[in-house]
Amino acid sequence: MNKKLDCLVAGETNVDLMIGASVSLEPGKEKLADDIRLVLGGSSSITAFNLAALGTKVGFVGVIGCDAFGDFIEQRLASAGIDLKGLRRDKTSRTGITVWFDEKGRRSGITYPGTIPLLRAQDISPGQLKLARHLHVGHYFLLTHLHPEAPDLFARAKRMGLTTSLDCNYDPSEKWNSRIEQVLRHTDIFFPNEQEALLLTGSRSVEAAARALGKLAHIVAVKLGAKGVFVFHDGNSFHVPARKVRVVDTTGAGDSFNAGFLSQFLRGASVRVATNAGLAAATRCVARVGGTAAFERKP
Ligand SMILES: Nc1ncnc2c1ncn2[C@@H]1O[C@H](COP(=O)(O)OP(=O)(O)OP(=O)(O)O)[C@@H](O)[C@H]1O
Ligand SMILES: [Mg+2]
Repeated sequence: MNKKLDCLVAGETNVDLMIGASVSLEPGKEKLADDIRLVLGGSSSITAFNLAALGTKVGFVGVIGCDAFGDFIEQRLASAGIDLKGLRRDKTSRTGITVWFDEKGRRSGITYPGTIPLLRAQDISPGQLKLARHLHVGHYFLLTHLHPEAPDLFARAKRMGLTTSLDCNYDPSEKWNSRIEQVLRHTDIFFPNEQEALLLTGSRSVEAAARALGKLAHIVAVKLGAKGVFVFHDGNSFHVPARKVRVVDTTGAGDSFNAGFLSQFLRGASVRVATNAGLAAATRCVARVGGTAAFERKP
């Protein structure tokens, strides 16, 4: 059946304010910065943006506030041609923001969560799921309002014939649970990074972690930063090294990997071809500041 959307991405979105400086912050003092950029942040929205830029028909379901940062997010996602019927404005919270301070390549950040954890399963209507071939949820551990409902959401998507994928990202509570095991039982592709895979499973090696996670999800792609990616699928595993590249900023590298992988997976490509497409997208991402700059449409 010819579905209206290739992929429905559901998850968190926020803005990233990126400040570059050659001086350190000191309590009680005002310093001058060298660079400042307001960019689209949020693991899920970066994956959605870059996936759309790679030619996939994408819908985004998420929550923003009734404020200028919410307007900015809506405008950025619309510029990529993303279907935004599922973007909800919450009247009582402000849009989430991370302020990144980069002092000569050493980065620190602070996040105001605001609307970031507010997504609920009811935001993803049966009608929307029916229109899509695939459901991707990003930064699972930040979506605390979704945790009680997430296993049922994924089971429902599978019953409706969709394929599913999940990126957990870091767990700020450091409990590494939040019903993720039940969600993974209904997940086709799981995209943790190395640290997350080890902490989730209590394993000592990436191979053991991927094997353990592979008992739940069909395909496990563990992102290894500068070392590339390790994939476990159907009892087999393979490692693909990262491409040599001048790294400017790794924000959104993992989210871009997800986008590249899904763009090929949804075209029916093999796991190996999809993995190479993930690496290509991640390589493209790290050459620019911010998670989506390398995927912007040329004016
Ligand atoms: N220093 C680097 N050099 C080359 N490639 C890199 C580097 N860091 C990241 N990448 C590329 O980005 C991919 C995913 O990055 P990473 O393993 O950092 O994911 P992640 O931790 O999930 O990222 P995110 O911070 O977006 O959540 C890697 O598989 C690799 O292809
Ligand atoms: Mg990640």
